[in-house]
Amino acid sequence: MQGGGEQREMWGSRIGFILAAAGSAIGLGNIWRFPYVLGESGGFAFLVVYIFFVLFIGIPIMAAELAIGRGSGRNPVGAFRLLKAGTPWWLVGAMGILTGVIILSYYSVVAGWTLNYVIKAVATFDTAFATSETAEGTFNHFLSSSGQQVLFHFLFMILCIVVVSQGIKGGIERWSKILMPTLLVLLVLLIVRAVTLPGAGAGLAFLLQPDFTKLNLNVILTALGQAFYSLSLGMGAIITYGSYLNKKENLFSSATTIAGLDMGIALMAGLAIFPAVFAMGFEASSGPGLTYIVLPRVFAELPAGQILAIIFFVLLSIAALTSAISLLEVMVTFVTDELKWPRSRATIIMAAVAFVLGVPSALGFGVWSEITIFGQSFFDASDFITANVMLPLGGLFIALFVGWGWDIEKVKKEISMGHTTLRFFTVWIWILRIAAPIALLAIFISNIAA
Ligand code: PFF
Repeated sequence: MQGGGEQREMWGSRIGFILAAAGSAIGLGNIWRFPYVLGESGGFAFLVVYIFFVLFIGIPIMAAELAIGRGSGRNPVGAFRLLKAGTPWWLVGAMGILTGVIILSYYSVVAGWTLNYVIKAVATFDTAFATSETAEGTFNHFLSSSGQQVLFHFLFMILCIVVVSQGIKGGIERWSKILMPTLLVLLVLLIVRAVTLPGAGAGLAFLLQPDFTKLNLNVILTALGQAFYSLSLGMGAIITYGSYLNKKENLFSSATTIAGLDMGIALMAGLAIFPAVFAMGFEASSGPGLTYIVLPRVFAELPAGQILAIIFFVLLSIAALTSAISLLEVMVTFVTDELKWPRSRATIIMAAVAFVLGVPSALGFGVWSEITIFGQSFFDASDFITANVMLPLGGLFIALFVGWGWDIEKVKKEISMGHTTLRFFTVWIWILRIAAPIALLAIFISNIAA
């Protein structure tokens, strides 16, 4: 078996690793998806369930992925092959890599919209978002302009190549250390503006009012799925980042810090968005269009709205970039480990694969709108199969692997590095053995049946 263990690069510092992993977690899922899912699922009650799942399922699985990555020092396929040689467990890693390619393919399309909206916010803000009709028209027109869809998908992929080709420490870590603090500052600026608007209280009330009558099985499973997607779990991104981590770091505290940052940013995105949406008299439950139709309209009604719009779409582009590079890195680590390709070649070829796979998603809003897979567009089908089927399935197998498949003494040894005590070990292992598999099986089945 081959492995990249010999002269593998490592993260340069703990903070660099945490920011890179938080950068993977914090993405379109936090700022685009979380607010509208929360809006559609009834606000506070959803939030409580979401936080519960992050704490009791998300953090344990993140620690499990970190343990697999660091324990092996390999890509997801190589990791399972090394830790459990001669068994089919490596298929879990292979499915993860495939999931990553598919997610990256459509993620880059949405990220391309965001890049395009930075330009719109700068160049055509006054006309594009003057009324609700023009805002909707702007978005629909852009969606159906196939040339632009492909162009911005392409440009975004180039940004990913620039970062990933520079390596772990000189690329991903260095850029995360610049981009993540920038993201935080921009988000704080937006929050300050939003919560000081007259009428912002209704948005805050929406976020903070406990209405548990909205809770049903569907909302609970949506919260679990969102927690999982948001934390970048189930496909080997965290295994990959963990494989570059040194043995001194405490895995439980790393997982908790990363999840805490991810949850914090999702909540902050809610705080930036809902008070403004309510203050301007818009609906909270506007679905995926919330970001590209409602928010620009909200900004257009505010003093200095153009600047806020620019800030918002730059922020969203940054969030998308730091997540997309983790998706690309999974594939790049795989081929540099297994095929010993140089990083630059691996990066360009893997990005090209994801780009080509994303083209049907990009065209599905325009010239290829007739083509469907099981009645869904290519874009929706890619999102559905990955977020609702492959990620929970990957997470299920990762939990089962660490809980039952891997040797418990080896798991203990890996976790105890960087720890003085093993206080949470028993609780953790039983979550992985029983609770997490049941929860993940439940989302998987309900998503398939839906
Ligand atoms: N966590 C990212 C987000 O919330 O946007 C999406 C994602 C990135 C999922 C990387 C999975 C992954 F491996």
